[in-house]
Amino acid sequence: MIYYFSGTGNSRYVARELSGMTGEDLGFIPDIDAVGETAEGMSVGFVFPVYSWGVPPLVLDFISRLPDSFWNDVRRLQLPVWCVMTCGDEVALAPEMFEKSVRERGAEVESVWSVIMPNDYVLLPGFDVDPKDVERKKLHDAPARLREIGVGIAQHRKVVDVVRGSFPALKTRMIYPLFKRWGIFPDKWRVSSGCVGCGICAKSCPQKNIIMDEGRPRWGKKCCSCLACYHRCPRHCVEYGTKTKRKGQYFFCK
Ligand SMILES: Cc1cc2nc3c(=O)[nH]c(=O)nc-3n(C[C@H](O)[C@H](O)[C@H](O)COP(=O)(O)O)c2cc1C
Repeated sequence: MIYYFSGTGNSRYVARELSGMTGEDLGFIPDIDAVGETAEGMSVGFVFPVYSWGVPPLVLDFISRLPDSFWNDVRRLQLPVWCVMTCGDEVALAPEMFEKSVRERGAEVESVWSVIMPNDYVLLPGFDVDPKDVERKKLHDAPARLREIGVGIAQHRKVVDVVRGSFPALKTRMIYPLFKRWGIFPDKWRVSSGCVGCGICAKSCPQKNIIMDEGRPRWGKKCCSCLACYHRCPRHCVEYGTKTKRKGQYFFCK
């Protein structure tokens, strides 16, 4: 089974490719109850984007909500647990954060991998989507990396094979907690005057946090900062305060 989360499609693509290579079924985390499926011979994979050099809170919450019976089966049947993180550049100590969350449920992680994909983070000054040539190169390199990961998972390699970047401890231990506390203010989402009320933002929200109200999107409090609404808007009308002015858009399409 592969449990995955994705806002702008990178991790969905990775999860689908790995599902094809491993034969594991896919489950989109926001859509499934946290019961968890187990069977002899299967592996348990998690695929998600790195958020602020850590694991998205929604994924940590899912791991903690999977019932004891699921994790007991993982141990009893010795099911390998692996994880693939997609990132724009680097993951810092996100693997350790993931391993800790699984260890707290009494299981061990066999392997953790990262795949560099086009960046979708645009909410802070200085952060924007990649230039088109960088985006193309990342998308070009991804399939070979995924084949490598697929082989590693099949061979049960015990590795943490990721790009950590500089000052990993500082980023994960100091910046991630700030992101969790201050990273998103749902009230800041709005649309500019060009909005035609197509509702694509609402449909793209994995948390179902956007409702259409008299032809205008309205954001609730459950925003997980995946930025799907911003990047999917065909008229580039979704804005986060003034922070996204003149920023680019990206989503994976294939
Ligand atoms: C809130 C947020 C935080 C992010 N933080 C990081 C980060 O710490 N390091 C990084 O390399 N990329 C970061 N990114 C970029 C994403 O991890 C990357 O683009 C990912 O592949 C997006 O996956 P998705 O398309 O499945 O949502 C961040 C993106 C978002 C939305």
